[in-house]
Amino acid sequence: MNVLPFTRPSIDEATIAGVAEVLRSGWITSGPQVKAFEAALSKRCGGRAVRAFCSGTAALEVGLRLAGVGPGHEVVTSPLSWVATANVVLETGARPVFADVDPRTRNLDLAAAEAAMSPATRAIIPVDLAGLPVDRDALGALAARRGLRVVEDAAQSFGASWKGRPLGAFGDLVAFSFHANKNVTTGEGGALVLPDPALAPTCEKLRLQGVVRTGEDGMEVDLLGGKWNLTDIAARIGLGQLARLEEFTARRRTLARLYFAQWDRALGCELPPEDFEQSNWHMFQVVLPADRPRARFIARMRELGIAVGAHYPAMHLFALYRHLGWREGQFPHAERIGRSIATLPLFPAMADADVARVCEAARKALA
Ligand SMILES: Cc1ncc(COP(=O)(O)O)c(C=O)c1O
Repeated sequence: MNVLPFTRPSIDEATIAGVAEVLRSGWITSGPQVKAFEAALSKRCGGRAVRAFCSGTAALEVGLRLAGVGPGHEVVTSPLSWVATANVVLETGARPVFADVDPRTRNLDLAAAEAAMSPATRAIIPVDLAGLPVDRDALGALAARRGLRVVEDAAQSFGASWKGRPLGAFGDLVAFSFHANKNVTTGEGGALVLPDPALAPTCEKLRLQGVVRTGEDGMEVDLLGGKWNLTDIAARIGLGQLARLEEFTARRRTLARLYFAQWDRALGCELPPEDFEQSNWHMFQVVLPADRPRARFIARMRELGIAVGAHYPAMHLFALYRHLGWREGQFPHAERIGRSIATLPLFPAMADADVARVCEAARKALA
């Protein structure tokens, strides 16, 4: 049987032809396409400086470094995210500190985040799970009150907005991901929006081995950087994708509306907040009733021709984080949602009829 995936990128023929041109051009690593991609991203982020990376993870880590995060610091974040969110904190030598999520939005509960802060807290990483923005007004107020830097994990929320302003166009440091599953993809890739263009030279150094070139043959290294540049091949995919961002977001919103219209409320699942203005609908996720094991639901849905994802288990319960002292019972909302959240198919090329198929299969699977 043809299984409906939970996501699939939409790469058009013009983009494929553009990538072929790059491959024939003789310059395939970071070059003119990356510059053009960064300029196009900057335009979407209110003209702010943007630098492209080989992953969202790299963008987040450089964001933390630019925020001055390092050994002895704590960074408060959500346990309900892709594990990259906390792993990058460990990479800087700082300590990730988790706080529970709001069960309605599934995003970091900012009151719980504030309660988890200590004098060592240097920064906060809000995560826009499934593309639903964290309250940017409350976030900005909290950061100002506590004197904290913010590194927005907007990996899933490119194309989303807050009160009419695109994410990335305001705030402190903002990291996007262009991983294959994201609304806009470069295969693998990411970007970091800078609050001040004066940070760009250091950002570029951190991105590529700390190297600064001058004149015809000058080279200096005065800090340790990574190897985190994006290729021109990837950037050309991104340029083709960016041109279709509005179309993609609109289609995702339409599909999300169809889910709300057709989902059987009697199944007892928790639906996401009905936000058709701000969320980019990166994922459509339901939380299953506690007596319906997710693994069984996933297996049954597959039999019915529907792929279902699990994004994400609460990360403080991974062995790496348990070894750092985190344990079960600390974040009941994140733990419950992490056990029972299920990602249903949603991607621009999906047909309206596919939503009906998913809803019907779920009715059978949960019966
Ligand atoms: C919430 C979140 N944070 C960080 C990342 C890391 O991005 P990447 O996979 O591009 O490194 C992802 C993407 O998978 C993500 O979903």
